[in-house]
Amino acid sequence: MLVVAWAVPALSACAADAKVAYEQSCAKCHGADGKGDTKMGKRLGAKDYSDPKVQAELKDDAALKAIKDGWKDKDGKIMMKPAEGISDNDAKALVAHMRTFKK
Ligand code: HEC
Repeated sequence: MLVVAWAVPALSACAADAKVAYEQSCAKCHGADGKGDTKMGKRLGAKDYSDPKVQAELKDDAALKAIKDGWKDKDGKIMMKPAEGISDNDAKALVAHMRTFKK
């Protein structure tokens, strides 16, 4: 018997895929347009990533770390869970996608 199984990568590096992955995994907090004005985003204090100031404060390495390791507030409370099994390239594609929110 031949079993054909292929894993569909949840997050893939191409820009269109990053958008889809973002909308599936991130938009519920950060908003489809990065403004974070969703129910979850407001409750957790997601920032407005359409704001150039917020973008300027966000460093690429910190963004990558947040995506891969998750993000905790200053009291150590987990606000954002790590994206499991994500590769560096996929994380970078997500950061690149978030950069497009800047107005
Ligand atoms: C459960 C809600 C939630 C989800 C889902 C979520 N985040 Fe976050 N994220 C937050 C909160 C809250 C913060 C902290 C405030 C902020 O920077 O907006 C944050 C911070 C960040 C930061 C900034 C970290 C820093 O150092 O300032 C990045 C980048 C980020 N998230 C990307 C993502 C990406 C990409 C995804 C999807 C893979 C995602 N987030 C999914 C809630 C979430």
